[in-house]
Amino acid sequence: MKTSQAILTAAAAFSGTVSAFWRMPCRSQTGVARLDPIVDPGDISAHVHTITGGGGFSWDATYETLTADGACTACEVTQDHSAYWTPIMNFAYDNGTTVMVPQVGGMLVYYLYYLDQVKAFPEGFQMLAGNPTVRNFTGPFPDTELSFWPTDSTDDQFFLQQRALGFNCLNYVKDPEPSLYRHVMPSQDYLDANCVDGLRLELAFPSCGNGELDSDDHKSHMAYPSLVKEGNCPDGYDEHYPFLFYETIWATNAFAGEAGQFLLSYGDPVGTGYHGDFIMGWESADFLQSALDTCKDESGDIEACPLFDIQSDADAAKCTFDVPDCLKEDNPEGPRQGLAVDVPVQYGPEEATSYAVAGRQGQETQGIAPSAPPETFSQPTLTYSPADPESTKTAQGGIVVAMVTDGNDIGKAAATPAAVESIVTTAPAPPPPPPAPTPVSYITQGNTVIELYVTEVDVTVTATETAPAGWKRHLHRHAHHHGR
Ligand SMILES: *[C@@H]1O[C@H](CO)[C@@H](O)[C@H](O)[C@H]1NC(C)=O
Ligand SMILES: *[C@@H]1O[C@H](CO)[C@@H](O)[C@H](O)[C@H]1NC(C)=O
Repeated sequence: MKTSQAILTAAAAFSGTVSAFWRMPCRSQTGVARLDPIVDPGDISAHVHTITGGGGFSWDATYETLTADGACTACEVTQDHSAYWTPIMNFAYDNGTTVMVPQVGGMLVYYLYYLDQVKAFPEGFQMLAGNPTVRNFTGPFPDTELSFWPTDSTDDQFFLQQRALGFNCLNYVKDPEPSLYRHVMPSQDYLDANCVDGLRLELAFPSCGNGELDSDDHKSHMAYPSLVKEGNCPDGYDEHYPFLFYETIWATNAFAGEAGQFLLSYGDPVGTGYHGDFIMGWESADFLQSALDTCKDESGDIEACPLFDIQSDADAAKCTFDVPDCLKEDNPEGPRQGLAVDVPVQYGPEEATSYAVAGRQGQETQGIAPSAPPETFSQPTLTYSPADPESTKTAQGGIVVAMVTDGNDIGKAAATPAAVESIVTTAPAPPPPPPAPTPVSYITQGNTVIELYVTEVDVTVTATETAPAGWKRHLHRHAHHHGR
């Protein structure tokens, strides 16, 4: 008997309707600091970020500084000096001592082509995804089947933004969870019990643009299509950019059994305020356009693209920026008292409020210790759910499609039977089955990151065979250097 065993991986889960993609490894940080040249140009950021990509980064980095002659990049493709950044993950012990959770393997940045006629980000383009003040998520878990999602994305950008965040529980001996599966950070008990290889944070950027390079809030020049990755763009958002997707892995497993809590650097124990920033820093928009037009190997490997010049991870790791003097005492890696620096923990569910930024305009450092969770604070209990091959084979991208079992399970878009009806009839046709899975996962052992390639294989099973049907793993070891 011959059966085909498809091993689902995050990248495979993406393959639903993606016409092509590539995966940019940026394995080291250019820096970890309270900097955000998009939100707070020339000033101290309100919280710490982990930053990678172009070494021309600073608190007033722009397309020009990132692509200036001689500027380096921490990504493997030397033509890409884009700046990519997100908040860091911290662990706060109950006694107030706070450390940065080790970041594993840097960042993977996916460029996926979901929309048609994908166009290069223009020179000078920048954007944010996510909103650091959000502290609640009200949708069902798992997400409602995509055919019940809104088909008009115009009024549903908040709905889509919160579904563009993913907290992926890593356990490499189990089937992987799909991407963008749960949209809140699991509790420490859950992480300890299930996520023995850490937690992968995922962030999807909007890919429909109105043609502007930026906007006042750095978001409203962009919009999510109706299914986050694909679907319909709102009116006036007719430019189709690549679907940009960040993955960072955090060794939350290093804190198993410790009394304390995980906190994102902007004081978020819930995860719903997770966000990230992008400044386009490709050597030219023309080059990026050629890459988008040319690099369509279904493996997503940058090596498969003849246009890319690739540097070693060791060379990429030499690329760092100078932290401004006024931030040198921040010690974001810890151990330190509270979050760097003086960031209060805000549990929600109401929107988080702004706070005085230490060092900005002469603001004194107070040394705020993390507060104990209020009685009303609870993180949802979630079951570990590996990708179900039956439900993911027609899923669009990494969002697993849960079968709707009863009316209460139907999300906001399907609040009334009439709404269900109209949405179902206008839902897009099911996508073709995904192509073969591609390399995707990482395993850490000490300072070594093992890249796990999972390949679809035909498994021949005979009556006498007792060994379980397995899959082929190609292990590639990369020496990985943490920190700077
Ligand atoms: C708090 O607890 C952690 C873990 O036990 C320990 O490493 C740290 O030194 C403690 N901090 C203080 C100020 O006692
Ligand atoms: C949930 O978050 C949204 C956005 O911040 C906010 O408008 C809403 O009031 C919040 N819900 C609760 C119960 O606070």
